[in-house]
Amino acid sequence: MDHSRVPVLEALQEFRRRGDVAYGPPGHKQGRGTDPRVAEILGMDVFRSDVLSLNGLDDRRQSQGVLEQAQELMADAVGAEQAFFSTCGSSLSVRTAMCSVAGPGEKLLVSRNAHKSVIAAVIINGMEPVWVHPKFDAERHMAHPPEADDVRNGLREHPDAKGMLLITPTDWGTCADVRAVADACHASDVPLIVDEAWGAHLPFHDGLPVWGMNADADLVVTSVHKMGGAIEQSSVFHLQHDRVSPTVLKQREDLLGTTSASTLIYAALDGWRRQMVEQGHDLLDAALHRAERVRARLRELPGLKVMGGEVVEEDLAAEFDPLKIVVDVRDLGISGMQAAEWLRANCHIDVGGSDTCRISASITHADDEETEKLLVESVRSLVERADSIERRPAVHLPEPGVLEAEQAVLPRDAFFGPAEQVPAERAVGRIAAETISPYPPGVPVVAPGEVITAAVLDYLRSGVAHGFLIPDAADSSLETLRVVARP
Ligand SMILES: Cc1ncc(COP(=O)(O)O)c(C=O)c1O
Repeated sequence: MDHSRVPVLEALQEFRRRGDVAYGPPGHKQGRGTDPRVAEILGMDVFRSDVLSLNGLDDRRQSQGVLEQAQELMADAVGAEQAFFSTCGSSLSVRTAMCSVAGPGEKLLVSRNAHKSVIAAVIINGMEPVWVHPKFDAERHMAHPPEADDVRNGLREHPDAKGMLLITPTDWGTCADVRAVADACHASDVPLIVDEAWGAHLPFHDGLPVWGMNADADLVVTSVHKMGGAIEQSSVFHLQHDRVSPTVLKQREDLLGTTSASTLIYAALDGWRRQMVEQGHDLLDAALHRAERVRARLRELPGLKVMGGEVVEEDLAAEFDPLKIVVDVRDLGISGMQAAEWLRANCHIDVGGSDTCRISASITHADDEETEKLLVESVRSLVERADSIERRPAVHLPEPGVLEAEQAVLPRDAFFGPAEQVPAERAVGRIAAETISPYPPGVPVVAPGEVITAAVLDYLRSGVAHGFLIPDAADSSLETLRVVARP
């Protein structure tokens, strides 16, 4: 295929060249009505290129097939049989993928180290999750994706399960053996869906962990705004084999997606694909060398543990994305969250992720010598000034196994059924009616339907005292919790 073509960008350029006037949305009419104070910050081009798909990018009958062509090029670029763009982020794509495989009341194996969007999908789709627990790395206090044996066992115990949802890479860049998990699923003739939100760059360099499509997964979802170069909310479904029907996927996407997809997102996806096909290998090669240099420099600093390839070990991670710079800061006497706050306030850098133990920074094709140096120098300042950072009450990190809660009620029933708000001390032993996800990384510690234990509550409440942000709990202070009402 001709990867120098960019159908969406070309159609947009043509729309602007013709100077079409639209009498439908968006009401700003390609910037005619945009307040100059807004344009001064956002730029007028954002508005000029903000057109609808129908009667904008393409005609009413989509007869030019602009989007189809762009999606075919994307599929070709990454070795998928088909690709579909979504402008609703992987939050919605994962939900769509899940409900394309398991309907209400049906079982789906789900890796429990899931992002809150996966738990939301379980609730809204009304499926019965069969949790597959991640590998808990006690030394690093980190969960790695589950292994093929865990999936095989799940499928043996639940032969009626419709498939498996695997999350890999994790927010911290550790990966599953996707091929082995796909083999386990295919041996039971069920599809493997991979939430590869963090893996949009993987198809374009063989020094990166194996890409889901190359590892035989059936349906892979990526967020191209995370490790790729498209704008926020850009997400792609990639499909191969015949275990998930493209018709079913499209219809379920239609059920959930917006009817006013952003052309800006489509255009950015289109451009990213061209850039990666033409220059991706070299750009990612440079990024990989940069990440190695950053890791080496940070390893020279006292009080830091910099994660690298050594995390790839039997019973831990199967692969590791070297573009993730993951640094454990506990020996500095502060948490990862405090380190992230300090770096933002004092060095004006925002690390992508932080939790009790660590910070993480992603190196992408966009980094250069300046951003490389800034990252290293900022972390060096953090190390030098760590003693001046206030000591906060410690988070009581849970022991391995503590987070594997009993699922007493279906998540949907617990979430939508009668519930009551009870003081935290009375919540122990009760069934959660809400999701509780410290953010970032947004992996729920408690999912609706799970039994709340004293150890989990102690961990969460010590986390709140330390500075956890819990946006999804009804009472984010966790003074009270929402639990299933007693009959
Ligand atoms: C593993 C995983 N899946 C899905 C999502 C949701 O992706 P998006 O932000 O594109 O909606 C995230 C977001 O952080 C994530 O980490």
